[in-house]
Amino acid sequence: MVAVQPSQQYSGDIAAALLAHYDVHARTLPWRAMPGAPAPDPYRVWLSEVMLQQTTVAAVIPYFQAFTSRWPGFAALASAEDADVMAAWAGLGYYSRARNLLKCARTVAADHGGQLPPSAAALALLPGIGPYTAAAIAAIAFGERAIVVDANVERVASRLFAITTPLPATKPAIRDAVDAITPALRPGDFAQAMMDLGAGICSPRAPQCLICPLSAHCMARAQGIAEELPRKAPKKAKPERRGTAYWIERQGIEGREIWLVRRPPHGMLGGMRALPDDRWSARADGDSQPPFNARWSVVPGSVVHVFTHFRLTLSIAVTASPVAPDIVGDGEWWPVNSLDSAGLPTLFSKASSLAARATQTIIEE
Ligand code: ADE
Repeated sequence: MVAVQPSQQYSGDIAAALLAHYDVHARTLPWRAMPGAPAPDPYRVWLSEVMLQQTTVAAVIPYFQAFTSRWPGFAALASAEDADVMAAWAGLGYYSRARNLLKCARTVAADHGGQLPPSAAALALLPGIGPYTAAAIAAIAFGERAIVVDANVERVASRLFAITTPLPATKPAIRDAVDAITPALRPGDFAQAMMDLGAGICSPRAPQCLICPLSAHCMARAQGIAEELPRKAPKKAKPERRGTAYWIERQGIEGREIWLVRRPPHGMLGGMRALPDDRWSARADGDSQPPFNARWSVVPGSVVHVFTHFRLTLSIAVTASPVAPDIVGDGEWWPVNSLDSAGLPTLFSKASSLAARATQTIIEE
């Protein structure tokens, strides 16, 4: 529970101290307006917030730049090919975000005259926009006093108010605390200032309280427990799954080629290019059945990949026996030396590197 309900004056002091610090120290990020400047293009705010779900700022920047130069607004993105968007998203993870991104762009283009609706309530009705993203877009792009709470903000607020109940049970109390300090003016700058504070000074370990603009207000610092917060309930161990991916290689006219498939549109890594596999899932191991009978050799080593709900250990089996594509099913031969441009999700690009290296060694031997 929130230890103290801050008075209006006190909450205003917190927002003022934070905004004054943000005016000088805001991170320069490609989707941001300068502190106090007119709001940035809602398309860019929306795109960045979707990309930043479960992903770091550093990882997002090059993707944001590539997307905005190729698809500078809703109209352009709405008319993009699904496969191009999925390939451009490859490596960023959580691929349902890319599918929803396209759905959202098409809905905005078709039903909203190419403009995002300007309130958190209306934004939350669009594909891929949950309560957090709706609040962030409403505050940053439209100046709505929406309550924006991500993991960094949770840490700042739990320390500021010395909220000691573990997450996630304490989420409603944290939201109330952030609500109490969110100003009516500059709510977007305030939200991003909280994020910056959490990403920098108010770090999980060894927070730099000596240079924190809120240290005078921070109850956890006063109690000497800043570093211990937020407390978290122990996480359940993720189930372990095993699977196999199949590297089917032939010598093409231009050099080595491998067989790539496109995964079904829904489900894990849906719509992405991939190596064929043995149908592993979050619920079950793969069945170890290769796509056709041939001499398969399992390469040494494996790829471990952590998904939201499970950990996957993927073995890679290779064959170079010549096969006709129709034996393998729907897919395409892809040159091994331009696999970088295939738009493979990280799991399969790790698997491909392992297989390409192993088969290279076999060929050289
Ligand atoms: N994380 C999510 N949204 C962000 C933003 N607008 N600025 C920095 N980090 C963020």
